Amino acid sequence: MLDVQDDILDILEVAEDMKKRRYEDMAPLKGQTLAMIFEKSSTRTRVSFEVGMNELGGFAVTLNTKDLQMGRGETVADTARVLSRYVDGIMYRAFEHSMVLELAKYATVPVINGLDNFEHPCQIMADLLTVKERFGRLKGIKMAYVGDGNNVCNSLMLGCAMVGMDLACGCPKGYEPDSGVIEKAKEIAKANGCSLKITESAIEAAKGADVVYTDVWVSMGQEEHSRMREQIFKPYQVNADLMSVADPKAIVMHCLPAHRGMEITDEVIDSERSVVLDQAENRLHAQKAIMIALMG
Ligand code: CP
Ligand code: NVA
Repeated sequence: MLDVQDDILDILEVAEDMKKRRYEDMAPLKGQTLAMIFEKSSTRTRVSFEVGMNELGGFAVTLNTKDLQMGRGETVADTARVLSRYVDGIMYRAFEHSMVLELAKYATVPVINGLDNFEHPCQIMADLLTVKERFGRLKGIKMAYVGDGNNVCNSLMLGCAMVGMDLACGCPKGYEPDSGVIEKAKEIAKANGCSLKITESAIEAAKGADVVYTDVWVSMGQEEHSRMREQIFKPYQVNADLMSVADPKAIVMHCLPAHRGMEITDEVIDSERSVVLDQAENRLHAQKAIMIALMG
């Protein structure tokens, strides 16, 4: 577990270096190609990976599943085998986590998870970079995640535990993060001297927090449950009242896209406490570091 912590910290250091040296002439991935498979929409992931690959001297190919033979029934295993003959890495945004694991099993090049229903690890690397920039450290920082115990929340639990950050998740009953991930993250947190708490109360989670993080109440693929979810999650809105219980210097995070007026108010997301655009920018730097680690 501590090895994973070292890997994360090393990648974050490279990401900081990439950010400082963004406009220097360098091409550590010269001549390499990244294939990007999208089953779902994307703004940040698509653009940050493509720009990142260009800045590293490589090239990215975007593949939407509706245009791929995969969309007509070619297996993910065959897609993995074939793409591995053309490209040096594959980024995959999928619905099912099992599809990402299957692609990784059969690909002979590195596979990067660009979000699935279960996890969003690249987002969390950018988020940790953002917290480190703001506070100068990660260990001991108290984060609150308020809202849906979704893919972002699952990855956040693992990420915070791995770098020694305390995390309290305030989620409604029945919408807590995955129980297996909670168990794993608690074990890692214990080994790293930090805590992970799950509560039904948004206020309890946010109390004294250095960082208040939220995400949409309706993730991609859950649109048919929008009305019900919007009712259930109403008490979990990140607004001025909730922020008043956090540390007076607390920052606000959101992976974006945001549904303004739902999980977060305009007043909060547009306030000086908000670092959402830094998070979005840091996707670029963090993912460049991830690609160097895996493909360099
Ligand atoms: N945060 C994030 O992954 O954004 P996109 O869906 O726009 O890629
Ligand atoms: N939880 C959101 C994250 C979007 C980046 C979703 O899966 O739609």
